[in-house]
Amino acid sequence: MGVGWAWPYLLLGIVLLLIYKFYNSRSFKLLSAIPSTNAPRFIGHTLDFLTMHPSNILSFMLQLFDKNKTNKNVMAIWTGPFCFVYLRTLPDIEKLLSDNQQLRKSINYIYLEPWLGQGLINSDGTIWQRHRKMITPSFHFKILEGFLEIMNSKLDIFSEVLEKKVGNGYFDIEPLIANYSLDVITETAMSTNVDAQRTNSEFIDCIKSLTEVIIIRSVRIMYFFQPIFNLSPYKNQESKSINYVNKYIAKILENKRTEAKNIKKDENVENDIGAKEKLALLDMLLQLQFSNAKITDKEIYDEVNTFMFAGHDTVSSALSFVIYNLAVHQDVQEKVYAEVMEVLGDSKPTYQSLMNFKYLERVIKETMRLYPSVPYIGRRLKKDMPITDGHIVPKDSDVAVFIYDHHRNPENFPDPEKFDPDRFLPENIAKRHPYAYIPFSAGSRNCIGQKFAMMEQLATVSHLLRQFRISIEPGFVMKPISHIVLRPNVEGVRIKLTKR
Ligand code: HEM
Repeated sequence: MGVGWAWPYLLLGIVLLLIYKFYNSRSFKLLSAIPSTNAPRFIGHTLDFLTMHPSNILSFMLQLFDKNKTNKNVMAIWTGPFCFVYLRTLPDIEKLLSDNQQLRKSINYIYLEPWLGQGLINSDGTIWQRHRKMITPSFHFKILEGFLEIMNSKLDIFSEVLEKKVGNGYFDIEPLIANYSLDVITETAMSTNVDAQRTNSEFIDCIKSLTEVIIIRSVRIMYFFQPIFNLSPYKNQESKSINYVNKYIAKILENKRTEAKNIKKDENVENDIGAKEKLALLDMLLQLQFSNAKITDKEIYDEVNTFMFAGHDTVSSALSFVIYNLAVHQDVQEKVYAEVMEVLGDSKPTYQSLMNFKYLERVIKETMRLYPSVPYIGRRLKKDMPITDGHIVPKDSDVAVFIYDHHRNPENFPDPEKFDPDRFLPENIAKRHPYAYIPFSAGSRNCIGQKFAMMEQLATVSHLLRQFRISIEPGFVMKPISHIVLRPNVEGVRIKLTKR
C-alpha cells in the first residue's frame, strides 16, 4: 500500500508548524506590542478590505486614522498576518526616509513588478544605485530648460482642445489633462510624439486599470498568493492592460533605437558615468547601451515604463487638483491671474520667468499638501528601527508613511482642511520641520522628477489662466480616490471655461 494518504496530513502539519513559528517569533511579538487599530485578532481588517469597493479605500483609511487619534505616534494596521506600521511622528518619519540603509520598498511594491519590473520606483540595492546615478543627469536644470519649449507646444494643443469647451457648459477636465501630460512626458523624456491629445490614448485607461489592480492586491491578502490571484477577474484586467502598455512602449523603443543609431558619437559630451549630458532620458539610455552596453534591453524597457507612469499620472492628478482649487477659490484664481499678467504679460514663459511665480508656487504647494499625488509610501526594514515612543519595529517588517494624513497633522498645519497658500510663505516654511511637508518624499529615494513636475505645473497653470476663467459646477465637490496615485474619482473635476 502507498503512503499517498499521508501527504495532506503532512502538509497540514507543515502549515500549522509555520503558523506556530510565526506567532511565536520575535518579529510578531514586537509588532503586536505596537498600538494598533482595534481589529479582531488574527483576522485584522481582512474582511473590511474584502468587501469594500477599491474607490473607498482612501476614505476607509481616513476613518481608521480618525477613530484611532490616540495612536498619534505610531499605528499598526493588521490584515491577517500582514502588518503595516504607520509612522506618525516627525523624528520617526525623518529617521526612516533619511536612512540610507532603509531604501528597500515595502512588500506591496511587488505588485508593480509585472508592469514596471526593476525600474527606479521598484528596484533596490546596486541596480537602484546604478540607475539613479545614470538617470539623474537627465533631470539637470539645463535639460529641463530645453523641455519648456516642448511643454509650450503641447500647451498650444491643449488650448485648442479647451477652446472647443468654451460656451459648452460644465465638463470634466481630468481626462484632457491626462492626455496633455502624457504628451509632455513622451516628448520630453522619450523624445517621441504620441499626439495623445488628438488621438485620445487608450494608454491612460490601461494605467488607471493597472493601478486599480495594484491597490486591490495590496489590501486583499489572498491575492498575495499568485495562484489565487490568477483565478480572479483582476488577473485578466492586469494582463490585458500590461499587453497594451507593452506594445505601446515597444513601439516607442523601436522608433528610438533606429534614430539613436544615427546620432553621431561626438555630438554630445560624456559625463563621469559615460552618459551624454545633453540628452533626454531615453536617448541617453540608448546611447549608453550603444557605447558600452552598461544597460540591458530589459532594464531600458523597465525604466521607460516607469517614467511613462511616474512622469504623467502624478503630474496629471496634481494639475487636476490645482485646477479644482482655483475653480473653487475664485479670489485665489484672480490673484494668480494678476501675477501671471505681471510676470509674463503676453510673452511665452521662460525657465527664469517661471521662477518668478511666487504666489502660484504657493498655490501648487498647498494643493499638493491637501492632495499629494502619492498618498502612501512604504519601506521594508533592513534592520530594526527603534521609534520615539519606545517600541522597536523589527527588521523585515513593513513600515509606511500615509502622506495624505501626515499633511493634515494640525500640529504642523493648523486648521488643516483649510486651503491657505500662505502656509508656504518663506517665513511660515521656516517655522516648520522640513519633514512636515513631503509630497515628493525625502532622502535618497525622493522623487527624481520633482523639478520637472513643478515646472510643468507652473507652465501649465499660467498658460491656462491667461486665456480662461475657470468656474466650478455649482454643488460639485471633488472626491479623491487612492489607486497608488491619488486622483479625482470617476466624476473627475467638473468645471466651466470662459474666455478672458
Ligand atoms: C506632482 C508630481 C509628482 C509627485 C507628487 C511625485 C511624488 C513622488 C514620491 C512621493 C516618490 C517616492 C515614492 C516611493 O517612495 O515609493 C516619487 C518617486 C519617484 N518619482 Fe515622482 N512625483 C511626481 C512627479 C514625477 C515626475 C514628473 C517624474 C518623472 C519625470 C517622477 C519620477 C519618479 C521616480 C522615477 C521615482 C522613484 C525614484 C527612486 O526611487 O529613486 N515623478 N515621486
